Amino acid sequence: MCHPQIVLRTAWGASAFLAPEVNDWVRPLRRSTDLRPVSIGLRFVCKEARLVGWAARPPGARSYDEGMPQSLEIYDQMDWWNPRHSLLRMAALKFTYFHEKIGRLDGLNVLDVGCGGGILAEKFAKRGANVTGIDLSERALQTARDHAAASGLRIRYQRGKAEELPVGNRQFDAVVCADCLEHVDDLEQVIGQISRVLKSGGAFCYDTFNRNFLSKVLIAWLLDRRLRREYRRLNVSEHAYAVHDWHKFIKPEELTVTMARHGLVSREIIGIRPAFYNGGFGLKVGGNPKVAYVGHARKQG
Ligand SMILES: C[S@@+](CC[C@H](N)C(=O)[O-])C[C@H]1O[C@@H](n2cnc3c(N)ncnc32)[C@H](O)[C@@H]1O
Repeated sequence: MCHPQIVLRTAWGASAFLAPEVNDWVRPLRRSTDLRPVSIGLRFVCKEARLVGWAARPPGARSYDEGMPQSLEIYDQMDWWNPRHSLLRMAALKFTYFHEKIGRLDGLNVLDVGCGGGILAEKFAKRGANVTGIDLSERALQTARDHAAASGLRIRYQRGKAEELPVGNRQFDAVVCADCLEHVDDLEQVIGQISRVLKSGGAFCYDTFNRNFLSKVLIAWLLDRRLRREYRRLNVSEHAYAVHDWHKFIKPEELTVTMARHGLVSREIIGIRPAFYNGGFGLKVGGNPKVAYVGHARKQG
């Protein structure tokens, strides 16, 4: 039961970024995983093939990216300490900023929320901080424990949800949350918890993504595709899970007011932007927070 169909192939998912109506019109013409740069052609569509295409996209999803399931599996299987891992390569940039804002680390109690494989936690521990790392992924935590043991570092790793931090009130001089706020289910609750566990005057440092058209294209679309390729190369997962859900990205002004509601006063929010170094390409802190940003706040009191 096949019939001919004129096919408009767009760059993968691009129509989703133009307008939902355009996407609605294009959607029936495309198979979810079978898009090439712009071309028009004729193909024979079999009912069975269409059914497979639809089944791959959960009902109600406005685009394939949006409908792609997110799963802890990518964090469970991540090769955290592989030198080619982008989080490892970005760690120095974030740590330098966080360290500069927190100040002396020796003897400070630091909580790393969403610590993953312990990349940042170890940097803090090496500077003499008493570090606790919390993450949802037990396998990421096991990687972190093994790596810390091999590096001779004492770091307390605990499984827990950022929304319900399993630690007491006012325990920490600093809380860091790197590349994690945009993954949580309830930002308000997470910020409330971070404030609860911080001592008065304590520092909260984070990095995350802004939510606008540019971040949709650059992060939710282009970076996510690159990361999925990277993760496949690093054998993270055989499934094509979405790394980011653009709807969870956070506008700086939203974060500022959310933090203020919980007694965290924003001191700075600043962009992370591309930069050229000696002919090479990298990232640096600076400029406006249009896409990715770092920031810090202090707990009032
Ligand atoms: C992109 S990784 C960042 C890891 C680490 N902060 C770093 O920069 O290397 C996000 C981490 O957040 C964790 N995560 C996501 N949602 C979480 C939640 N609600 N509570 C705790 N951890 C969470 C994931 O398991 C994952 O390890």
